[in-house]
Amino acid sequence: MGRGGSAGTLAGPEGHGALDVVLEGLRRLEYRGYDSAGVAVITGNGIESRKKSGKLTNLLDELQANPLPESLTGIGHTRWATHGGPTDRNAHPHLADGGKLAVIHNGIIENFAELKRTLSAQGVEFVSETDTEVAAALIGELFRGEAGGDLTRAMQLACQRLEGAFTLLAIHRDQPDTVVAARRNSPLVVGLGDGENFLGSDVSGFIDFTRRAVELGQDQIVTITPDSFEVTDFNGKPAQGREFQVDWDAAAAEKGGFASFMEKEINDQPEAVAQTLLGRAGLDGKLQLDELRIDPSQLKAVDKIIVLACGTSAYAGQVAKYAIEHWCRIPVEVELSHEFRYRDPIVNANTLVVAISQSGETMDTLMAARYAQEQGAKVLAICNTNGSTIPREADAVLYTHAGPEIAVASTKAFLAQITAAYLLGLYLGQLRGNLFTGQIRDILADLAKVPAKIQTVLDDSDQVKKLARTMADTRSVLFLGRHVGFPVAMEGALKLKELAYIHAEGFAAGELKHGPIALIEEGQPVFVIVPSPRGRNSLHAKVVSNIQEIRARGAKTIVIAEEGDTAVQAYAEHVFYIPETPTLLAPLLATVPLQVFACELATAKGYDVDQPRNLAKSVTVE
Ligand code: G6P
Repeated sequence: MGRGGSAGTLAGPEGHGALDVVLEGLRRLEYRGYDSAGVAVITGNGIESRKKSGKLTNLLDELQANPLPESLTGIGHTRWATHGGPTDRNAHPHLADGGKLAVIHNGIIENFAELKRTLSAQGVEFVSETDTEVAAALIGELFRGEAGGDLTRAMQLACQRLEGAFTLLAIHRDQPDTVVAARRNSPLVVGLGDGENFLGSDVSGFIDFTRRAVELGQDQIVTITPDSFEVTDFNGKPAQGREFQVDWDAAAAEKGGFASFMEKEINDQPEAVAQTLLGRAGLDGKLQLDELRIDPSQLKAVDKIIVLACGTSAYAGQVAKYAIEHWCRIPVEVELSHEFRYRDPIVNANTLVVAISQSGETMDTLMAARYAQEQGAKVLAICNTNGSTIPREADAVLYTHAGPEIAVASTKAFLAQITAAYLLGLYLGQLRGNLFTGQIRDILADLAKVPAKIQTVLDDSDQVKKLARTMADTRSVLFLGRHVGFPVAMEGALKLKELAYIHAEGFAAGELKHGPIALIEEGQPVFVIVPSPRGRNSLHAKVVSNIQEIRARGAKTIVIAEEGDTAVQAYAEHVFYIPETPTLLAPLLATVPLQVFACELATAKGYDVDQPRNLAKSVTVE
C-alpha cells in the first residue's frame, strides 16, 4: 500500500521521453511520499522497471547504474508506506501477468486479504506484502480472461471488485500506447499536452509540460493515448471529468493551490481521518492492529497504560486518555517522554506503553519507549511514518494514514493520531470484552461521519479567518476547555505559540478560579471550547459559568460550540459552531477552527507558517 504520488505519462512521438517526464513528475510529487520510488516503461522488450527504497535520489542512482532504454510510455511512483514496510520489494510499480503489466497505486485496498486468498488459490504468486500487488494481479487475471486483452475493461472489472480508496495506474506491454487509470477517494488529474498526455496525483506532476488539465470525478476511469483521453465509470459507461486551466506556479501546485503546506494540511484533514479509519476491520468485522508482536493474552492482562509523546502528539495522548479510560476501564497516564525517563516510573510487564509520534524518530520518545521495554513493559506505537525507528522497535503498531506532513507544526497528523487512539481504545475494549460488538459498531459509525463534518468546519471557516486577521497585534491569547476540550485548548495555544509567536496558554476551565483568572483584564481574548449541551449536561453548564466569570472581568470571549447551542451566544463576543458529534469525538472538530485561526493570524503577521523559527519537524536529539 502506499499513499505516494503517482505520475503517469504517455509521451507522443513529438513529445518528451517518458522516463524524463516521469522523473520530473516524481521530483515535484516527492513531497507526497519519500520512502521509496520506482518507474516502469514499455520498451521493445516489454516492461522494464526500476525501484528503490529511500528518497528519489536512490532511484536516480539506480537508473545511472542500470539505465532504462528510451520509451514513450511510462509510469512512476513515490511512496509513503502505509502497510508493508518501505523496502525495495514493496516499492511500486508492481508487476503482474508474467511481467507484462505494471501497476502503481495510492490509497488502501480494504478487501485485499480476501482477494489475495482467491488469487493465490488460482496459482498467482506474490512477492511483496502490499495490497497494490494484489490489485495488479487482479487486473492481470482479468486482462487475460474476462476483459479479452483490453486494459481499460480489465481496470473497470477490477475496480468493481476493489473496496477502499485508490488511485491506480496501469500499463500493459500489449497496449504500448495506452495508460489506464482509476480513482476512488484518492486524487487523479489528467494533463492534456500536444501529442502527449499525462496523469498525476496532482497537477504538479505535469506542470512543467502542460497547464491544461482534467480532474476526474469519483469512481471514474480514464484511458490516455498520445492524442486522446476517454473517461468512463467503473461499469464502462461514458463519463466526463472537469477540464480546467492550471494557473498556479509549480510551488503553489505542490501545495494544492494553497499558500502554504500548513494550510493544505489543515484542509487535508477530512482525508487524513478517513484514511486512518480505512481497512481496520478484518473479514470477521473485528478491529485489528497493523503489526502485533505481543500475544493478545498479554494485552488482555494490561492493568495500566502510559502514553508517552511530545508536543502535539502528547495532546493527542491526553485525548486518548479520556476515550480509553471510558471504553476500557484501564487507568491511563499521559506523560511527556522526556519527563518519564528521568523519574522512577512504575512500569512492569502488565503496563502497556503507547508511544505516539508522527515522525517515529523523536529521540525523547524513542528513549522513553526503550526504557519502558527494558523495564518489561510492552510498547505500542501510534505513528505516521512507516518503517521509522519507534514502530520498528515497538511490540505493536497502529499507523496513522495522514500522509506525509511537511509543515513543521503538526495538524493533520494530530487528528489522525486522535483517530488512531480511538481505534486503539475500541480494539482494547473488544479484546478485553469491555465493549459489545454493537457499541463498537455504533462508535465506528459516528467516526465514519467525522470527515464530512470536518469538511463543514473548513467550509465555514471564513469568519474565523476574518477574526484572526483583526487580531494580528494581540499579545496574549488564552484557551479554556474541560474534559476532552482541555487538550484541545492546549493544542490551540501551542499552535498559536508555534506559528504566530504569541504568548498563549491552554487551561482546564475549572482551574481558572484557582489562579489563571488573575490574568484576565479588559479586552483579554479567551477562546473557550464548550462541550455539547447534550449528554453530559453538567459539563456544559459548568463551562458556561466559566465564560460568565471571565466575561465579567473584561475578557473578550471567542467560543467554539456545538451547532444549535444558542445558550452560549449571550456570553460570547464571537461564536464558531461545529457540527454535532458525541462528546468524546468532539476534539476532531473543535481543534480545526483553532488551527485555522493560528495559521491565518501568523500569515497576517507575515510569518512563514511552514517553517516557524527555532522549530524542527523531527527532533532527533534529547
Ligand atoms: C517537534 C515538532 C512538533 C511535534 C513534536 C513531536 O517538536 O515541532 O510539531 O508535535 O516534535 O513529534 P513527533 O514526530 O514525535 O510526533
